[in-house]
Amino acid sequence: MKSKKSNTSKKKYKSSSKTNKNILEEIIRVDHAGEYGATRIYDGQIFIFGKNSKIGKTIQHMADQEQEHIETFEKLIINYRVRPTALLPLWNIAGFALGASTAIMGEKAAMACTVAVERVIGEHYKKQSKLLKDDQKKLRSTIKKFEKDELEHHDIGIAHDAEKTPGYSILSSFISLGCKAAIAVSKKV
Ligand SMILES: [Fe+2]
Ligand SMILES: [Fe+2]
Repeated sequence: MKSKKSNTSKKKYKSSSKTNKNILEEIIRVDHAGEYGATRIYDGQIFIFGKNSKIGKTIQHMADQEQEHIETFEKLIINYRVRPTALLPLWNIAGFALGASTAIMGEKAAMACTVAVERVIGEHYKKQSKLLKDDQKKLRSTIKKFEKDELEHHDIGIAHDAEKTPGYSILSSFISLGCKAAIAVSKKV
């Protein structure tokens, strides 16, 4: 009798500490997509500024971290056998176009793009780490580390006068909305 009781409580503990499979797959799919998009945004900005310019070097530091993020998710996509989003070709073009077009508008606008994107991604990672249970401790700590990197990128943008871009609030809301839409579809499609 006694052992039966402890079995039940063990089972209960197990089910509450296990991450929902669909949620787990969506997390890996959307993060892979997002990190890919981030590398393309910074590629677009560096293409315009050149990697040897002062701003180019600052962006390169963030791009290097995005490279580490995408490589991690490329491994996770394989290890967890998750189908990548079918929209990667779109994020390839859209990410580069967003990066290049904001860079053409100037250094502050490029940084405004960084602030908007990284704020959305930072919040997105924060929400995700709450969805991951104890069976995904390693993934949860990876996401927490990346969240920290993204917030650092956000702060770099602020420190480079992103908010002084003419039309900052319109540009920022436009980019935030686009990122949120990209997140919503990349989970599923
Ligand atoms: Fe990232
Ligand atoms: Fe980032």
